[in-house]
Amino acid sequence: MAAAEQEKRTGKDVTSRNAPDIVAVAIVQARLLIVVAGVVFGFLYLSGLTSVEISIIGFFALAFGAVAQTYFAEDRRRRDVARAVADSQAAQSREGIGSVVLEQMQDAVVLLDGDGRIIYHNRSAERFIGLTATGKLIPSVLREPVLLDAIQRVRTGGAAEEIEYMSPVPVEHHYQAVITPAETAENDGSGTPTLLALHDVTDMKRVEQMRVDFVANASHELKTPLASLSGFIETLQGPAKDDADAQERFLGIMGEQATRMQRLIEDLLSLSRIELREHMPPRGTVSVSGLVKDVVDAIGPIAERDQVTIDVAMPDDLPMIRGDWDELLQVVQNLVDNAVKYGQSGGRVEISADRIDGLSDSSDGTCVELKVRDFGPGIPREQIPRLTERFYRIDVTTSRERGGTGLGLAIVKHILNRHNTELRCDSVVGEGATFSARFLAE
Ligand SMILES: Nc1ncnc2c1ncn2[C@@H]1O[C@H](COP(=O)(O)OP(=O)(O)OP(=O)(O)O)[C@@H](O)[C@H]1O
Ligand SMILES: [Mg+2]
Repeated sequence: MAAAEQEKRTGKDVTSRNAPDIVAVAIVQARLLIVVAGVVFGFLYLSGLTSVEISIIGFFALAFGAVAQTYFAEDRRRRDVARAVADSQAAQSREGIGSVVLEQMQDAVVLLDGDGRIIYHNRSAERFIGLTATGKLIPSVLREPVLLDAIQRVRTGGAAEEIEYMSPVPVEHHYQAVITPAETAENDGSGTPTLLALHDVTDMKRVEQMRVDFVANASHELKTPLASLSGFIETLQGPAKDDADAQERFLGIMGEQATRMQRLIEDLLSLSRIELREHMPPRGTVSVSGLVKDVVDAIGPIAERDQVTIDVAMPDDLPMIRGDWDELLQVVQNLVDNAVKYGQSGGRVEISADRIDGLSDSSDGTCVELKVRDFGPGIPREQIPRLTERFYRIDVTTSRERGGTGLGLAIVKHILNRHNTELRCDSVVGEGATFSARFLAE
């Protein structure tokens, strides 16, 4: 069957032998027959039999030899056929695998003939050139001038090209295109057949942009207090040289700016440390009520100063959770600090923790949910997804006034990632905000 298919594709009979092969085999067989006949007749002649008996026995011996030879020749032919079929199947399976790989590829692949007509494209290419592009000229189905120009250059004898371009619709996407000359056997077109491969680099661009923004933001955050420090140093050395009151006031401000820079550097280092070990699950066991107690002890005086009461509600039999104490302390600290800072107008912050049973994503179905709720201005819905971005602040002035760096929730997000959970924020503008996270119970 496979041999028949190969014959159909190649137009050749894979099992047949050519003429020189047949002559060579016939000569070998004839020689063999003469030798065998000589040996048989010699043996019979020496045995003393009559010439009639020799003729009869010799005839049967030769007939037997001829039949045996035909049988062995047929057997060899059968083995040759089997080998040809196996070779043809292997070639077909390689070809099959090749086309499956091409069809399943995320990258789009398009092959153009010498006239720029599409002779092949894989499935991923359909979102660029449509479903019925085969046979059409590439400029009629693709509307990217930069890409079409590059294809034209390669088609008219240019070297392979690699270009990047941005497609703004329907959503901004960035692509890397590799256009290479692809000499095919049947090229009767006016130019060089061309192979086009398109690779989506949007995510890579986004990460790169984030890196650039991060460096810009971090430098900006450091530059502001640094500029203020330099300004005050100049003033203290010049106009305020002999003004004791001004000196005291300026030194106070300088101290605050230095603390701000120090906090920013600590937060940046903390963020990179957490990112480094984000893929390593924490091994410790942590008591949520212990964490909350430590945080309330630390933030209590600040909350009191800001006239914010902190209420804690959690059952006594709360299970322990799997986690890293120091990291989770940072999480609770930042959430409570934010609730006191930004929800001050509500005058109250609630911290609660509850046991939740029956969740399928935990080993025995038990989780502990921690919630920090404030009754301040709340957060507009469209701002919520951006809160965990580095340096993102809804109100930069308020955050800066309170010594904020805008890195707190970014740190929280990475710590929670490491703990295989995520931050949730529910808020109604004017009624406050609730931040929560679920942790796997030990
Ligand atoms: N409970 C909240 N209510 C209203 N806005 C909030 C609340 N929590 C956070 N935000 C907003 O989210 C922004 C980001 O918070 P994040 O904790 O990352 O930074 P920060 O508090 O400004 O700085 P840092 O945490 O370094 O002190 C804040 O600047 C604030 O605008
Ligand atoms: Mg914060």
